[in-house]
Amino acid sequence: MKELTLNGKNNSSRIITGRGSLQNSKEHCRDFLTCKNKPSRICVITDTNVEKLYLESLEKRIRSLGIPVFHHVLYAGEENKNLAAVSEIYDTLSNHQTGRDDMIIALGGGVTGDIAGFAAATYLRGIRYFVQIPTTLLAQVDSSVGGKCGVDLPQGKNLVGAFRQPDLVIIDPDVLKTLPKNTFTDGMAEVIKYGCIRDPQILDMIGEMGLNGYDKKDAEITELIERCIRIKTDVVEADETEEGLRRILNFGHTIGHGVEKLGGFTQFSHGEAVSIGMTAAVRLGESLGITQNGCCERLSNILHAYDLPTNITYTVEEIYAAMMSDKKKQGDSIHFVFIENFGKAQVKAIPVTELLQMMKVLGD
Ligand SMILES: NC(=O)c1ccc[n+]([C@@H]2O[C@H](COP(=O)([O-])OP(=O)(O)OC[C@H]3O[C@@H](n4cnc5c(N)ncnc54)[C@H](O)[C@@H]3O)[C@@H](O)[C@H]2O)c1
Ligand SMILES: [Zn+2]
Repeated sequence: MKELTLNGKNNSSRIITGRGSLQNSKEHCRDFLTCKNKPSRICVITDTNVEKLYLESLEKRIRSLGIPVFHHVLYAGEENKNLAAVSEIYDTLSNHQTGRDDMIIALGGGVTGDIAGFAAATYLRGIRYFVQIPTTLLAQVDSSVGGKCGVDLPQGKNLVGAFRQPDLVIIDPDVLKTLPKNTFTDGMAEVIKYGCIRDPQILDMIGEMGLNGYDKKDAEITELIERCIRIKTDVVEADETEEGLRRILNFGHTIGHGVEKLGGFTQFSHGEAVSIGMTAAVRLGESLGITQNGCCERLSNILHAYDLPTNITYTVEEIYAAMMSDKKKQGDSIHFVFIENFGKAQVKAIPVTELLQMMKVLGD
């Protein structure tokens, strides 16, 4: 078991990674559940898929510490990451007389973590204890750590949200064994992202592993997750509210979000869109002389080994228009993340007036 601490402005997160950590969740939660200000009740929030796999055993373990536990099950899927889902959680919490000193546990992928985190940050202006138990690779290496949470609006993704560092994150790579292959490779896109921006050894490790790693999901995957979490923790500690360094985590996401949007959020999964976005960012970087030649070819090979797409199927103009309609875009420039080489990211503010011209190379 490895333990890391992320020191946030308002609270810090203990992040525990290791096989079997879900089985030991009672022990990891023990400090909170036996302290003077211990919660009087615990609400586990999960989704319809994860419920069938892991809810019962988690509840049984925690209940044995003598604190009442109840649950709320969300409909699985990004299309349900909305304010209606949050409102239903408020109903459940209120029906169980949940108070400010109680605990919410998110058990599931990034969708569950984002919705539950937002509910924890806002119900009664914030619940005292929030625990994340991420069950997808994406959630383990990315969304469960760092404190960003929120839901989608009809106008776009993640437009309502909050910053709420979880007090505890329990990451158990064993739960990845039940993941569908495409959900696993989706998370792999984010793993590859960390390799590109900060830790080239990740790329060496996964280059050798290929999709065999999906079948084995053994020691290598645990080490990969730990490496990714370390990067996320370092970056978030340096810039919790994304005013500087944290932007490097958006590598591949600027164009990726455009691709996701053009596909109506159904044609490409998030990881597939990020895969296309990373390839485009490296191609652009090479054409501008920012990225060392050869990076694009190596990155494409790695992504293909995980069945991730690299080709853009839209015109440059379509992608540019989708990027420009992003509600979160600020001012007259876009912070675009390039890599100089594997392991070294560079953020450049590109005036939107120059962006389309710069992107033309992607249409060749
Ligand atoms: N908050 C952040 O910082 C942050 C960062 C990255 C992504 N996100 C968000 O994360 C979401 C994507 O997360 P995701 O890819 O985990 O999606 P998800 O939560 O929808 O999970 C994908 C699918 O896998 C199922 N599942 C989860 N764990 C399983 C398991 N162990 N075995 C079998 N099936 C399992 C889920 O029920 C779902 O059907 C997006 O909404 C994205 O915006 C947030
Ligand atoms: Zn992402």
